[in-house]
Amino acid sequence: MYTEHLNIVIIWGICMAKVNTQRIKPQEQRPDLKIAPKVKTKPYSDIDLNNWKDYSHIKTDTWWEFAQRDNTHGHSNEYHGNYIPQIAQQLYERFTKKGDIVLDLFLGSGTSAIEAINMKRRCIGVELKPEQTEIVRSKFSEKELVTDVNLICADSAAKSTKEKIQARLDVMRSEKAQFLILHPPYDDIIKFSDRKEDLSNCGSTEKFYELFKQAAQNGYDMLEKGRFAALIIGDKYSNGEIVPLGADCAAKMREVGFKMKAVIVKNMEGNERAKGKTANLWRYRALNGGFYIFKHEYIYVFQKV
Ligand SMILES: C[S@@+](CC[C@H](N)C(=O)[O-])C[C@H]1O[C@@H](n2cnc3c(N)ncnc32)[C@H](O)[C@@H]1O
Repeated sequence: MYTEHLNIVIIWGICMAKVNTQRIKPQEQRPDLKIAPKVKTKPYSDIDLNNWKDYSHIKTDTWWEFAQRDNTHGHSNEYHGNYIPQIAQQLYERFTKKGDIVLDLFLGSGTSAIEAINMKRRCIGVELKPEQTEIVRSKFSEKELVTDVNLICADSAAKSTKEKIQARLDVMRSEKAQFLILHPPYDDIIKFSDRKEDLSNCGSTEKFYELFKQAAQNGYDMLEKGRFAALIIGDKYSNGEIVPLGADCAAKMREVGFKMKAVIVKNMEGNERAKGKTANLWRYRALNGGFYIFKHEYIYVFQKV
């Protein structure tokens, strides 16, 4: 009796489903019915390529000019040697998706982490100086420090640091990071500390390159395949000649396995505090020494293929 009743219910269900399908007219017969086109994205970005004209704020050429530093939304210019947040804004929108983990191996004042939170990404930051790591920690809430931002006080060039990063990735339930930022000291231009592991305190540019390459290798190993990395750096003058730190560090990135995707030149307005009132003196030195005053730095973009 029960089975018979069940059969009737099933047959009735099938009939109703048929009637309903017949009632729904196909789209061709309903020109008023517009079906939203599928979102078209790359695996490493949320940019909807079907609406690519809506992204006019995203830079696609190799000259980046910013009138001034963005000092809003948690950012400030208190750390000598920090990069301007607009760099992170551009790179994150192009090369990360919401929820992705950005790994910054030279965190400094935490620009990468602050912008990660602002843009609903997450961040693991490594910084050598304990006091600096604590300052950055104080910029985030207890909750953010559990779920979205992980700070590690360690030497980015040491192999053992990879285990520390892996432990944080495990907590954040991700096998690897989805974007890598390297903004190392520009050799000894600004000395960040007296520590022997500090890339700004290497004693020679050769040693700086050696340690930078070790950090780049760590970054490569911790990054997901197919994802992107950015190297932010400038050149320096020494003994009357240019030391091309940018090109040389980019070469190290390629040696560890990265494919180079872009060389972007960015104006230095907003982060040249060092010159300040001595600008005229620099002009004299340039005229006297046969060189030019730096007004640019680089953002190299790479992919792990
Ligand atoms: C150019 S600053 C980075 C600034 C940062 N992007 C910001 O916006 O604040 C370089 C940072 O690397 C740190 N550093 C130097 N050697 C390091 C190492 N071996 N491991 C980790 N951090 C290091 C310095 O203390 C300094 O804070």
